[in-house]
Amino acid sequence: MFLNKFKNKKVIITGHTGFKGAWLTLFLKILNAEIMGISLRPNTKPSLFEATNLSKKIDNNFFDILQKKKLEKKILSFKPDFIFHLAAQPLVTKAYKNPFLTWQTNLIGTINILESIRKLKKSCTCIIITSDKCYENVEKRAGYLETDRLGGSDPYSASKASAEIAINSYYKSFLINTNHRIATARAGNVVGGGDWNSGRIIPDCIFAINKKKSVVIRNSNSSRPWQHVLEIVYGYMKLALLLNKNKKLNGQSFNFGPSNTKIFKVIDILKEIKNEWKSFRWLNIDDRKNISETKMLVLNCNKSKKFLRWGLRINFKKTIKLTLEWYKVYYSSKANQKKIIDITEKQIRDYCKIIK
Ligand SMILES: NC(=O)c1ccc[n+]([C@@H]2O[C@H](COP(=O)([O-])OP(=O)(O)OC[C@H]3O[C@@H](n4cnc5c(N)ncnc54)[C@H](O)[C@@H]3O)[C@@H](O)[C@H]2O)c1
Repeated sequence: MFLNKFKNKKVIITGHTGFKGAWLTLFLKILNAEIMGISLRPNTKPSLFEATNLSKKIDNNFFDILQKKKLEKKILSFKPDFIFHLAAQPLVTKAYKNPFLTWQTNLIGTINILESIRKLKKSCTCIIITSDKCYENVEKRAGYLETDRLGGSDPYSASKASAEIAINSYYKSFLINTNHRIATARAGNVVGGGDWNSGRIIPDCIFAINKKKSVVIRNSNSSRPWQHVLEIVYGYMKLALLLNKNKKLNGQSFNFGPSNTKIFKVIDILKEIKNEWKSFRWLNIDDRKNISETKMLVLNCNKSKKFLRWGLRINFKKTIKLTLEWYKVYYSSKANQKKIIDITEKQIRDYCKIIK
């Protein structure tokens, strides 16, 4: 049933040249949506976007979401049924190096999207992707609830928390009595094939394997709510559909992640990779003096479970296995586009069988 709901719907995806955005675009393409993508050019080489020839499959646009007028013009002329806003500067380490760019993109970029929605005459459902890092970090073991205090002292987390405040303000001030629907999605650490953002655990390991070097690990005991990218993009799509049905959920936020009994450490990922690639090695360094990152991050996802009937369907071992399987095809086929499209679409179609 879910699989037919996006057929012929007009969908805008910002951040479609990025890791999660490209998977979402490919998924919605398989569901026969009509898609417009708005992003900067891919910022990694290689990228899932280029590896799957995505620019040829959709209405593809490369420009900065800080170009407010251009953004508005595109959104208003396309008249979307749905907007998924993923464009962001998403890296904690890069945010320390360039806080201004991070604040501009993550806060002002989001406000530019909200301004465009305000001007849309046709009703539209908008899912804005923030982060699990938007909560004030108190190392809460039971998991953060959507109603917990926002915060974040590092620039990335703070920029996402402030985007949440801006969205809430726009909703209550301008959108509440319109036909538009809006919600924010706060997800944990996402893994899957086709991510080449350095500073993230899986891409860093993949780079190291290919260079036959050891990967340097900052905090191997850090726990994170890991989940496969297909689980999370499915969660975003489900949230969008539910918002259309249930007006009471308008203006709310939803956590997406594993339950707090299924939280794994960086070291668990390293061991899984080692099982698949015997030559894989790592080096531990304690870098917490230079970069402050949450040691423990757990979300309470009962709300998504209750209202969306959303929960992880792929366990931790399988999540890492699917991810490594994708990279193995990529590197063993020497980036053969057909083989990469085939494995990506196969993983999506296999996932569709699980959620049916
Ligand atoms: N990957 C994760 O584990 C994770 C976890 C929590 C939240 N998120 C959030 O999910 C979203 C997607 O993350 P990702 O991992 O795919 O990141 P990514 O870096 O792979 O993709 C980011 C996308 O944003 C676009 N972008 C950046 N600045 C832009 C600008 N000024 N104008 C237009 N486009 C711009 C890029 O072109 C790219 O398409 C982000 O909002 C991120 O904060 C990601």
